[in-house]
Amino acid sequence: MGRVALVTGGSRGIGAAISKALKDAGYTVAANYAGNDEAAAAFTAETGIKTYKWNVADYDASKAGIEAVEAELGPIDVVVANAGITRDAPFHKMTPDQWKQVIDTNLTGVFNTVHPIWPGLRERKFGRVVVISSINGQKGQFGQVNYAATKAGDLGIVKSLAQEGARFGITANAICPGYIATEMVMAVPEKVRESIIAQIPTGRLGEPEEIARCVKFLVSDDAGFVNGSTISANGAQFFV
Ligand code: CAA
Repeated sequence: MGRVALVTGGSRGIGAAISKALKDAGYTVAANYAGNDEAAAAFTAETGIKTYKWNVADYDASKAGIEAVEAELGPIDVVVANAGITRDAPFHKMTPDQWKQVIDTNLTGVFNTVHPIWPGLRERKFGRVVVISSINGQKGQFGQVNYAATKAGDLGIVKSLAQEGARFGITANAICPGYIATEMVMAVPEKVRESIIAQIPTGRLGEPEEIARCVKFLVSDDAGFVNGSTISANGAQFFV
């Protein structure tokens, strides 16, 4: 039986492409989702991948959800912390609630996802952690003080986890997608989106599958020495 992989936010957008790519590569995949039951049911019907509902912003719910996945599928070897939200607004208009929602989901959500799984990875001396950060965690973005803060924070998480996990056979890496053709990017006002696409030398949005292929590499045995790194996949929009 293949290794078990958990993908948070794994039934839509980039997460859905990751779930499918890992299943195709032989992993037993659990796709977490927060709220959209209809999309999750359609995803399972289409792919055969089981979906599990909990809110990554809630530690106790995450821990219980992870226990349910492990009881059904076996110990989790691979965790892809992908779940994320936007609440965009220029800073002078951003509310404390918009700040908190994004921090709770995108940053604390990574803690809540990896922390319950981490002891098992250490015990079994193998693990792959991938956190989906963002180009906007690297460069910042007008209207995304909250989101950029979380995505920059994700990079600190993986660099620290990499150092703690290395001697246990665990790697932790981040991917910074640029602008990818998902509902999240399509929700950006059209004029703004067009101006962003004009800044991408490749001349188009990325495809979710292009991020999924990066994940597939990072979780493979071939990537055992790639640890604490950040893969940028942004069509040459930004270099670090
Ligand atoms: N740089 C400089 N000025 C900008 C600007 C920019 N990038 N964007 C907007 N402005 C200006 C506007 O022209 C406007 O100027 P005027 O007042 O002189 O007309 C002013 O800033 C702001 O206008 P508003 O007060 O009307 O702003 P708003 O309340 O409508 O909010 C916004 C605007 C929500 C931030 C909107 O610009 C927006 O959605 N921007 C996109 C943010 C973005 O890129 N989000 C990414 C979502 S996808 C994602 O996050 C995935 C990923 O990882 C990449």
